[in-house]
Amino acid sequence: ESTTELDISAIEPGQAVKAVFRKQPVFVRNLTPEEMTAAEAVDVGDLRDPQTLAERTKPGKENILVTMGVCTHLGCVPLGAGEGEVKGEFGGYFCPCHGSHYDTAARIRKGPAPTNLVVPDYEFTSDTTIVIG
Ligand code: FES
Repeated sequence: ESTTELDISAIEPGQAVKAVFRKQPVFVRNLTPEEMTAAEAVDVGDLRDPQTLAERTKPGKENILVTMGVCTHLGCVPLGAGEGEVKGEFGGYFCPCHGSHYDTAARIRKGPAPTNLVVPDYEFTSDTTIVIG
């Protein structure tokens, strides 16, 4: 089983980057306080795939959101990690294939995708290093 080690120190708040994990794209996003507040303000009961931001991040590192960059509809790579402005209606990611909108916690909010972007197994091995897998 392969793992992916990433230095996340250069990811500024509000930025997301793309990496590769087991030949698939993975997104690492450093949420701004406003993006965290937006994610936490959502009534989880209203979500198609109910999860809090805290459940999708690590304790004390709730600003670092690590997800697979694979739309849960039919597997396209959503936009919003390093492509500039296109992020959909909920400020997170947008899949242009059939119009799935993900919020700042990468939870599905609109469109055909059935579930949130998947959070892979990962851990922090230092304040600025994560190991996925
Ligand atoms: Fe993303 Fe269909 S593959 S919306």
